[in-house]
Amino acid sequence: MLNALTAQPKDKILMLMQMYKEDPRSDKIDLGVGVYKDASGATPIMKAIKAAEQQLWQDETTKAYTGLAGDQGFLDAMVGLVVGDAASRDRVAAAATPGGTGAIRQALELIRLASPGATIWLSNPTWPNHPSIIRYLGMPMAEYRYFDDASRAVDFDGMMQDISKAKQGDVVLLHGCCHNPTGANLNLSQWDEVTQLLAKTGATPFVDIAYQGFGDGLEADAAGLRHLVSNLPETLIAASCSKNFGIYRERTGILMAISGDAAGTATAQANLAFLNRQNFSFPPDHGARLVTMILGDAKLRQMWSTELEDVRQGMLKLRKQLAQELRDRSGSDRFGFLAEHRGMFSRLGASPEQVEKLRKDHGIYMVGDSRMNIAGLNAQTVPLLAQAIVDAGV
Ligand code: LMR
Repeated sequence: MLNALTAQPKDKILMLMQMYKEDPRSDKIDLGVGVYKDASGATPIMKAIKAAEQQLWQDETTKAYTGLAGDQGFLDAMVGLVVGDAASRDRVAAAATPGGTGAIRQALELIRLASPGATIWLSNPTWPNHPSIIRYLGMPMAEYRYFDDASRAVDFDGMMQDISKAKQGDVVLLHGCCHNPTGANLNLSQWDEVTQLLAKTGATPFVDIAYQGFGDGLEADAAGLRHLVSNLPETLIAASCSKNFGIYRERTGILMAISGDAAGTATAQANLAFLNRQNFSFPPDHGARLVTMILGDAKLRQMWSTELEDVRQGMLKLRKQLAQELRDRSGSDRFGFLAEHRGMFSRLGASPEQVEKLRKDHGIYMVGDSRMNIAGLNAQTVPLLAQAIVDAGV
């Protein structure tokens, strides 16, 4: 039986991770996978996570199963962090999932139950795992324009034109903040226009928010999705704790299905629990419990949000430094967008050949579409990158 299997397409981001690992050069620079790194290149465990883990080790008395949808305390804390008071709690069905990817997968399966044949509208470009999972599930998908290559900003007119074709029963997948891979984001008045358009077409928004706190701050990064939630009858949200709590390998995420009323919420909640049971039964708890402890304790929460804010400010500083170095070395403003973008990523606008040259000649690793992870830089490597970019003729 197993010899009937054929090879599966390789994930480009994970492939790049492996290539970087195998590169013997000591001055190589990893701007590939979206994992935060400090100035020394390490991905540290946040102090609040360590403190919560210590406390948990002392206090935890059982490893028995939690609820099928996860622990209620985690769900409430995360709904508070992401949705805030944009919706009353009785409108929000929620389930813990293995990471943000698990939430995306469960959301797609929920969509398939609720609206078989729904087309999923994706930004062009988007995180490659979005179309990969949708294709695997055999669901129809379509693209909306998102990024203007010339200005390296959002192609908002193109986006609105394309989204207007989404029908009632279709789903429009939006990045809550820190668009992956471009780094170009909607402003609040654009979120409002998208909200009005979705209200008109009846298509359901599905927000993937994996970087809350990495863009303009914890509250500002959730403002767009909160606007959708408070103005539309239904919204789906997949949120990840991997990046903003730095607990990548703990696989901590949540799917929220926001309905128009409490009866809709009860049915959605039962469906979320059902889907968890079908796919993996109970969700992982360790990371979720740490997040719950941090969000529920004033001191730990303060410790965490301060460290997260330092991380955000550090990335902003690197963005500004890189834009400045490129201005000085290229004698032009064409890289100014790097300081305007938010989050871990920016799409540089280099050709695949230039990306390859950067890797071969300088040991600089970025994704083939020239997505760079800004957090992979430090004050010393920024000038090296800037010079290499200019030398490669980008
Ligand atoms: C990324 O885009 O690099 C991250 O979300 C990690 C991943 O799983 O691809």
